[in-house]
Amino acid sequence: MEEMHRYTDEAEALSRAIVAYARGRIASPQPLDGSATGEDLTRRAGETVTPEGIGGEEALRVWTEVLAPATISTDHPSSMAFVPGAPTKASVLFDLVVGASSTIAAGWIDGAGAIWAENQALRWLADLAGFPAGAGGVFVSGGSAGNLSALVAARATAAARLGGRPGTGWKIAVTESVHSSVATAARVIDVGVIEVPGDERGRLTGEALGERLDGLGPEEAASVFAVVASAGATNAGTVDDLASVAEVCADREIWFHVDGAYGGAGLAAPSVRDRFRGIERADSFIVDPHKWLFAPYDCCALVYREPTRAHGVFRQEAGYLDTVNQPEAEWSEWNPADYAYHLSRRARGLPLWFSLATYGTEAYRDAIEQVLALTRETAEEIRTRDELELVMDPELSVVLFRRRGWGDADYEAWWRRLLEAQIAFVQPTTWKGEKLARLCFVNPRTTIDHVRAVLGTMS
Ligand SMILES: Cc1ncc(COP(=O)(O)O)c(C=O)c1O
Repeated sequence: MEEMHRYTDEAEALSRAIVAYARGRIASPQPLDGSATGEDLTRRAGETVTPEGIGGEEALRVWTEVLAPATISTDHPSSMAFVPGAPTKASVLFDLVVGASSTIAAGWIDGAGAIWAENQALRWLADLAGFPAGAGGVFVSGGSAGNLSALVAARATAAARLGGRPGTGWKIAVTESVHSSVATAARVIDVGVIEVPGDERGRLTGEALGERLDGLGPEEAASVFAVVASAGATNAGTVDDLASVAEVCADREIWFHVDGAYGGAGLAAPSVRDRFRGIERADSFIVDPHKWLFAPYDCCALVYREPTRAHGVFRQEAGYLDTVNQPEAEWSEWNPADYAYHLSRRARGLPLWFSLATYGTEAYRDAIEQVLALTRETAEEIRTRDELELVMDPELSVVLFRRRGWGDADYEAWWRRLLEAQIAFVQPTTWKGEKLARLCFVNPRTTIDHVRAVLGTMS
């Protein structure tokens, strides 16, 4: 049996092979790659989990030859579906360090250095949003976990204020363009969802929110403990009217959460910063660095205006954690486990921190602006093509457009054709009941030529 925990000659050979693979993946332009059926993968990969093991060399061969080609590289410049990723070289390299370091960044007692660095990155985000000095939070796995945790903290805050659960049960208020993870979070924590009509682009406004809340009976209105606004909404990249929503929430003592999982990166871009006006009044917000802040998966920054509000609900009490939870002790300076539903956690904010430290925040500003400029150029390009029609001017980096004369089946065939030909990975979407083409940009390496290659397949 090969020894698993000793640095043997085999381990040395494997470490060279793995580092060489990772280096190749980081250094060279990667193929877009595709998908495969489970049956096909089983046939080609064979049995990989066996009593004796197949050996690292063989497992790496299976990954390289069979599995990796069946896994799309979301950082390919022609990956424009859903919300892609585009991690910087430094962030990916440092992710290797995080993996090699066996850091448990749950509590300060054994994770101080890593947590300090994560908090530096969180502070940058809090400053971009205009949050006060006392703000803070934690990196969780993704926007879904971030939204869920913020809502749990919001509900606990309302319960403390009202002295318990209202007879009608708890409610949150959102508009149609809010991300699907918010409805799922509401189901998970058993709260109702009050839908507020959006404006012509599906955006939440303070006026519509106020009217909807005024239309509720007093008991139901008191049961609304949180409003979730989008900045920006995933489907169309629109940003809700955060300033007017903040006003309504403040008047009624409702927790104001901003979901900036996709669009929050725009806070760093002067050309769109104004769209986020009002975020400084939120009680919490999230941004996913694994989307448009150039970090590897999985990484969501969850920031609270008053982090202590999250303590009461998330802190885990146990005999073996007594030391960790001692208030005021130097070893409990900041325990990330207290700010979301988790205990053990990867120091997943470190790749972002390392990358920020390496390149500086101005490089981030410029890279985000570059993506915004490409988005505007794409909108112009669509306007010049008779067969295409722009649905709306992009607010951030999502472009929605229709191909005149196409039905649902044409859009379906289109994305399959593009992936098959390795031209691009794109997806149609449904907007106000109509199937449309949608491109989402986050990668500064995507150029107008990549976009033209896609648009050219629609003529
Ligand atoms: C606005 C928004 N919120 C939440 C999420 C969920 O984030 P995650 O996939 O990281 O859980 C997404 C994902 O695209 C999103 O765009």
